[in-house]
Amino acid sequence: MYYKSLKKFPHDFLWGAASAAYQIEGAWNEDNKGPSIWDTFSKLPGKTFHGTNGDVAVDHYHRYKEDVRLMSEMGLKAYRFSIAWSRIIPDGDGEINPAGLKFYDDLINELLKYGIQPVVTLYHWDIPQALQDKYGGWESREVIGAFKKYCEAVFKQYGDRVNYWVTFNEQNVFTAMGYRWASHPPNVTDVKRMYAANHIINLANAEAINLFHQLVPKGKIGPSFGYGPTYPITANPDDILAADNADDFNNNWWLDVYCRGTYPALVMNHLKDLGIAPEVTAADAKLLKSAKPDFLGINYYHGGTFQQNKLEHPSKEDADAKDFSSTDPYLMQPKDSQAQEPETPMFNNVQNPYLTKTDWGWEIDPVGFRIALRRVYEKYQLPIFVTENGLGAQDQLTDGKVINDQYRIDYLQAHITEMQRAMTDGVDMIGYCAWSFTDLLSWLNGYKKRYGFVYIDRDDDSQRDLARIPKKSFYWYQDFIKRNS
Ligand code: NOJ
Repeated sequence: MYYKSLKKFPHDFLWGAASAAYQIEGAWNEDNKGPSIWDTFSKLPGKTFHGTNGDVAVDHYHRYKEDVRLMSEMGLKAYRFSIAWSRIIPDGDGEINPAGLKFYDDLINELLKYGIQPVVTLYHWDIPQALQDKYGGWESREVIGAFKKYCEAVFKQYGDRVNYWVTFNEQNVFTAMGYRWASHPPNVTDVKRMYAANHIINLANAEAINLFHQLVPKGKIGPSFGYGPTYPITANPDDILAADNADDFNNNWWLDVYCRGTYPALVMNHLKDLGIAPEVTAADAKLLKSAKPDFLGINYYHGGTFQQNKLEHPSKEDADAKDFSSTDPYLMQPKDSQAQEPETPMFNNVQNPYLTKTDWGWEIDPVGFRIALRRVYEKYQLPIFVTENGLGAQDQLTDGKVINDQYRIDYLQAHITEMQRAMTDGVDMIGYCAWSFTDLLSWLNGYKKRYGFVYIDRDDDSQRDLARIPKKSFYWYQDFIKRNS
């Protein structure tokens, strides 16, 4: 589109796939690992689909060699995974656990043996339960010191072999799910507490970046943000203003802090007006300004469409009339009419009439990916690493152990094409990690919702033999990587 020919992907472009510790490892209490808040939360009745949890997950902890062999067969250039903090420091801020360090040492060495670059996420939602109990988790500044201690341990241990590091995965998602909707741990519905915890996480993010630059000067570090472009539903200036407001609340509230060290004034003023703004000291402001990420990780699934909200403060009847049947982690949208959403008078999320949806109601919007990459790059001028993008579907294992996931191939092909167009438009891109390598535990949806290139033979109620079976998309990505186009 617009070009006679598209820019070619550089030969060192990092074609990868991604995962997260809690979603794949299992071995939840082995080799001295301490429990994380997810080990506790997933066992609360009614919180997850069929009560699924990560006790075994896809048993990557014991089968990582087999998984890495499959990655090499596929030709992956990079593999993004997260470290479970409570494997490294079981109680969060006490003794370092040598067995935990060893597991990731072995995994990293195995990847390097096959020429696959490890991309390490420091925090993919699993703070040690002990820190939640002792200090109240991310609501306490004490946790910043604990996080630094954990970061120091892993930077020193793996900094010689790992070039790319991600600080926090989707801070926008885990704070909303955990503190606004209680659909993730720590199971809270209080937006004031959400904004307070979010600020503390920003401070931890800045500390981790500064520490990394001291300890691993040659490496690269940045956050991974769950970004969705915002669109106005019409050309009515009021709708355009609503989409701009949503952009500030849903994206810039984090990205401005990561990249510029300041909160957007529009959101801050509104939160102050509502009495729910975080407390930012002069020392905090200085710290946030001091930390500069080397790249921006973008997780892209979909954007959101907005219209003006004519109601300054929606009445109970208006709120009840709205369909809030599902909570979308990438939108500030309540899952039921009881939810407290004080900020939404500034915008109203609506359906986009031009887009189709996945089985889970997520819009499919490859052009939005190009828009996302351009907007973020033009604004912040940092190289972009796509740390997640993929399709959740109910894959069927048919006779002869075949999984014909042509829909996933179509999805990825369309998104990668738009990414190439964005690159041709001038966006500086480092790599692309599809979500996910193997099927894995979908936090709330068990194994019904699958994303992997490799099918795992298990379901929500039975682990069966956890056999690894490459899907059709595995061979498609293998061929794509080989040709680099
Ligand atoms: C983003 C999260 O980082 C990942 O953990 C999750 O499974 C995917 N989105 C799909 O929902």
